[in-house]
Amino acid sequence: MMLVKANRVRTKGASAMTGKETERKDTGGGPILQASGITRIFGRGNTAVTALENIDLNIPPGTIVALRGRSGSGKTTLLNILSALDDPTEGQVYFKGREITGLSGSERSQIRRKEIGLVFQSYGLIPLMSAYENVEFGLRIAGLKGNREVVEHALDRVGMRERMKHRPSELSGGEQQRVAIARAIVHQPELLIADEPTAELDSRMGLQVVRIFRELVKESGMTVVLTTHDPGMMELVDHVIALEDGNIVSQTTNESPLI
Ligand SMILES: Nc1ncnc2c1ncn2[C@@H]1O[C@H](COP(=O)(O)OP(=O)(O)OP(=O)(O)O)[C@@H](O)[C@H]1O
Ligand SMILES: [Mg+2]
Repeated sequence: MMLVKANRVRTKGASAMTGKETERKDTGGGPILQASGITRIFGRGNTAVTALENIDLNIPPGTIVALRGRSGSGKTTLLNILSALDDPTEGQVYFKGREITGLSGSERSQIRRKEIGLVFQSYGLIPLMSAYENVEFGLRIAGLKGNREVVEHALDRVGMRERMKHRPSELSGGEQQRVAIARAIVHQPELLIADEPTAELDSRMGLQVVRIFRELVKESGMTVVLTTHDPGMMELVDHVIALEDGNIVSQTTNESPLI
């Protein structure tokens, strides 16, 4: 998608993200997400699969962080753990300084619904609901009352207010993903987690989605953690964490993202 090489600084290994970017944007409260010694093993005995092995990472607030890696490298497994959908076999995750690993299912679900926004590769919109109703549903999932102004504002932020009466089947893939983003941010979460949000979009639509993420970061100080296969994405985000076979093999800070 992008041809221009950005100016980068490399940090080695699985150590915490440090350096200028963190110092500049993360002035007060430390990382919004912190993972320490995360291991995730699926199954038991002969058939056990180690999807993640001793992962340490820090996500600075107000940045876009991309997890990249080949299919099966552990990206979705790590996102699920960071968004409190799944518990690791070993290790701890801290969200805004509070440990979320080891909480009960209902406590985790509360945090996920109220404080995190989730975006998926295949949008996950409800087919029989209009764009407006889908976003309003996001508000109700967060335990909040439907509120026309709030719903329309969320749709406005992704440029979909004009088409809010349409159902998903009447929208393009990029438009559906924008509605899905509106649904994920309507309750104003501090953290947006997106698993391959651009995988089903062409590069122009994908770029538009990342531009929306960038605006959310700039306007609301939101933090976005996403996974991607798209090499073009690497020039657009603030940090890239590369996974290989469940291990972090590099962490890159992009000093001058292209958007
Ligand atoms: N529920 C599960 N049960 C058993 N193994 C699993 C489960 N979920 C994931 N795995 C295994 O864990 C490893 C990591 O899977 P994961 O879905 O995290 O990869 P990924 O990097 O997201 O891949 P992709 O790019 O294809 O989405 C894979 O070997 C996968 O087969
Ligand atoms: Mg995946």
